[in-house]
Parts: sequence; C-alpha cells; structure tokens
Amino acid sequence: NAPRILVTGGAGYIGSHTAKLLRLEGIEPVVYDNLSTGNRSAVRWGPFVQGDILDTARLVEVMEQYQPAAIIHFAASAYVGESVADPAKYYNNNVRGTLSLLDACRQTGLDKIIFSSSCATYGVPAVLPIDEATPQAPINPYGKTKLMAENMLADYAAAFGLNYVSLRYFNACGADPEGDLGEWHDPETHLIPRALMAAAGKIPHLEIFGDDYDTSDGTCVRDYIHVADLARAHALAYRHLASGGANLALNLGTGRGCSIKEVLQAISEVTGHDVPVMFRRRRCGDPPALYADAALAHRTLGFLPRYSDLETIVRTAAPFFGLEARP
Ligand code: UFG
Repeated sequence: NAPRILVTGGAGYIGSHTAKLLRLEGIEPVVYDNLSTGNRSAVRWGPFVQGDILDTARLVEVMEQYQPAAIIHFAASAYVGESVADPAKYYNNNVRGTLSLLDACRQTGLDKIIFSSSCATYGVPAVLPIDEATPQAPINPYGKTKLMAENMLADYAAAFGLNYVSLRYFNACGADPEGDLGEWHDPETHLIPRALMAAAGKIPHLEIFGDDYDTSDGTCVRDYIHVADLARAHALAYRHLASGGANLALNLGTGRGCSIKEVLQAISEVTGHDVPVMFRRRRCGDPPALYADAALAHRTLGFLPRYSDLETIVRTAAPFFGLEARP
C-alpha cells in the first residue's frame, strides 16, 4: 500500500506541484483545501477533500479516514500587503489554522508535519546570506504569523513528541517543467508573473518598485527558487522524518541573489520579448536584498536545486503567459 500524505492547501501553487511530485514518488497525496485561493483543476494526483483548516473536527475525520503517514501544511494566506491591511485574516488562517491542524494531529496520533514557512520570518536581516541562525524578526503580520506557527511546532514537538520540518522558502517561482501546472495568483503581485504578463502585452508595463537601492544595479535582489525544486525538498523532508530524522528548520533557496533587472534580462533572452517597464517609488516593507545560505538543507536533506537558474525558471513559466521560449 502506498503511503499517504495529507496536503493542506494542495490546490494552491506550491501545494499542487508538490502533490504531483509525491505521486511520482509513489506517495498518495490527499489534498485538503477550502478553494479560497486554490484551484480545483490543479488537484489531479490523488483524492480531494474540500474543507477548511479551521474545522478541526473535519480534519480529524479526514485523518481517520485516510490514515496519512504525515502532513504537508501549505494552507495559509500569503500576501504581505494584505496582511498589513487585514491582520485578522492572517492570524485566523495562519495561526489559528495551524493550531487547529496540530490539535487534530494530537487527537489522531499523527506525529509528522512539514510546514510551509517563509524567509519573511527573518525581516530585514543584518547580515547576508541569511542562515538559519539569523534572528527571526519579521516586519509584517504575514511573517509574524509564519513565525508563530514555527514556534507552535517547536513547542508541540517538545511537549507532545511531534516531529517536524519547517521549510523557509525564499522566492518561489517557475512552473511545472512538464507543463501540467503553472503559477496563478489572483490578484497576481509577484515579480516574474507580472513581468511575463507585461512581456506578453497582457498588462501595459511592469512597475519596478525602486531603482535607487544600494544593490549592484539599484533594484531589489531576491533568491528565486523554482517550485519544482521546492516540491522535491518536501519529499526529501518527508523521507527524513519517516526515517526518524531530527526536527529541522531549513532555508530553501539557491544561495544566489538576482536583481529585478537580471530577471528582466533573462525574460528577454528566453522569450525574445522585452519587458516594458515604468519606474516607481519603493514598495513599502521591501528589504533591498534577501538571499539564503542554502548549505543546511543540502547537508541535512541532500537538497540541491536543479531548476532554479533564471533561464529554466523563465522557460517553464513563459508558456502560461502565452509566450514561447526560444529553442
Ligand atoms: N516587484 C516589482 N514590481 C512588481 C512586483 C514585484 O518591482 O510588479 C519587486 C518587489 O518590489 C521586490 C521583488 O520584485 O523587490 C520581488 O517581489 P515579489 O512580490 O515577487 O516577492 P517578495 O520578495 O516581495 O515576496 C517574497 C514572497 C513572500 C515573502 C517575501 C519576504 O513571495 O511570501 O518574499 O519578503 F513574504
């Protein structure tokens, strides 16, 4: 019998890519999603249960029915700007939601969880690259809720024997290399999709938020990691816990920072379309540069990115915006 993993938020962008990869690895993903931002058509690799993580009784029912070996917990609200405007939504979904899930785990004896955390928990780090010992000092409610959830995992682990891996993603991007799944957010606020929309003429131009940062070319620097690589890290984290590995909190990044202008350059090289741009003032709350020290995930999980060079990122994402990648 194939082991099962309960994937909360498995109809979302990173969750659906992970569900596909689990299936390829002989694990049955049971997707639990309320479809508030997820997409039903992205659930194709195992059973789907429509439900909310705040509904502890329903989670208990689903855990009893499917008997998963572990949980991968993606379900969360994930817009920094929205979290500032509506923190209640974030404390509810991300903090209460995680607590509800952990309590369902306690009730059913499920003791392995892989958690979708974020580099947003570090805030504006004093030193780059960011390693896992960097103090976590989030600067917005979104990052604060992710940090609170990480802390809950650690406390439940100490008190109740829960086993966990928290994965702190840097900038997730790209799309399924086989073309089965893309990136969709509504509204779309992320750099690479918006730049591709501008290159494809679907929006008049990309707004670049600030070109006067203290970086190589004045634009913000981020660590872009391909969603297929993120997906594989979750499978590795599951293997780690299944073989009795220790609790971990890991960065998932490439260790390399890329500026906005470098991203736009890659788009024009790969697609043959320039990205029309307008320069705007800095976006509130944007750190100038964020990139990971990615050594610990390599050391503990054997994780190394395979798809996270800008060319592959753009090549896999471009078709979803109606752009052809050059051969
Ligand atoms: N940017 C633009 N124009 C756009 C969109 C983005 O110039 O239209 C810039 C941003 O200002 C930023 C960079 O491109 O400098 C990347 O922006 P994204 O919105 O794509 O990603 P962020 O780095 O803001 O967000 C990511 C994750 C969040 C996480 C955050 C931590 O998506 O989950 O890092 O700061 F919280």
